[in-house]
Amino acid sequence: MTVTPITVQVHSSGRSSRVVLVEDVRRGLSKRPKELPPRWFYDERGSQLFEEITRLPEYYLTRAETEILARCARDIACRMQPEAIVELGAGSSTKTRMLIDAARQSGMLSRFVPFDVSPEIVERSARELVAEFPGLGVHAVIGDFAGDLQQIPRLGRQLVVFLGSTIGNFDDQERAAFLAAVRSLLAPGDGFLLGVDLVKDPAELIAAYDDAAGVTAGFNRNMLAVINRELSADFDLGAFEHVALYDPELHRIEMHLRSTRDQWVTIPGVGMRVLFQQGELMRTEISAKFTRPMVEAFLHDAGMGLAAWYTDPEERFALVSAVPA
Ligand code: SAH
Ligand code: TRP
Repeated sequence: MTVTPITVQVHSSGRSSRVVLVEDVRRGLSKRPKELPPRWFYDERGSQLFEEITRLPEYYLTRAETEILARCARDIACRMQPEAIVELGAGSSTKTRMLIDAARQSGMLSRFVPFDVSPEIVERSARELVAEFPGLGVHAVIGDFAGDLQQIPRLGRQLVVFLGSTIGNFDDQERAAFLAAVRSLLAPGDGFLLGVDLVKDPAELIAAYDDAAGVTAGFNRNMLAVINRELSADFDLGAFEHVALYDPELHRIEMHLRSTRDQWVTIPGVGMRVLFQQGELMRTEISAKFTRPMVEAFLHDAGMGLAAWYTDPEERFALVSAVPA
């Protein structure tokens, strides 16, 4: 008998994800302006759509980060010598394979610990990874950044990685809380590897979040499909448009859904009937962009120090290596 070296540990801060969805929808739709938290993008379909986004010509982030990893993975693996790689918001872990490969070759890596809110994509990638790297143990943890990071087991000297500029999807408070939780996972000798998107020409940024083929628009509207399915709501997906705006002061992209007409939406799962006015914007995501001094400052505030800063030749994206201070 062969034993599959995959384990899956499920958390949701002690509450079922349905209870969290009900609270998020009730709270978000009672705010003015209305908003919905981005974790609800990522059901199975949403995870697939995000994978499609990463391959879009306009979405330079994934390509730039891949380029950097191709050049630097070996350097990082040799310097950190991790026994475990923990990946936060792992998704398909496509880019992470370069790091796993490098850390296997340098001899020490025995465990990969993907952490994500979406079980389907993580389980699929776990099966691929154990086939691709014989002897590697994959211990997946399903949970939310906001309450479950402490559940991640320590399986030796570890490199915690957080790619894709997902750090940009937090507001200042959420980012500080998240980084404090990451810091508490780190012992002396551990490291943190962070992918951040850099401040650049707004036109380039907006194109990356409003592609010509409309994949990002479909991803954004998928959140309404999730609420329809889970809470028996009647959002008309055809009556909401995708809008990506850039705020140069806060250096962040904001994703919204804009109601194309006055309309009532009924959401039996939360017992609400909600009016959307024509032209009204509901925010679904922010994606902040950073400079090196900003990154150094937020790492410092969280008790970490910058160890290395890698960029692509065009300096669109940075991969930041940090260590506990
Ligand atoms: N790391 C991958 C995927 C980034 S997309 C890459 O670089 O391409 C963001 C990932 O974070 C998705 O896989 C999504 O399921 C996960 N995610 C989103 N919100 C989350 C939350 N609140 N808690 C845990 N994971 C979350
Ligand atoms: N972490 C990704 C980013 O900020 C998430 C993302 C990419 C995203 N495209 C999106 C989120 C479109 C919402 C809508 O780039």
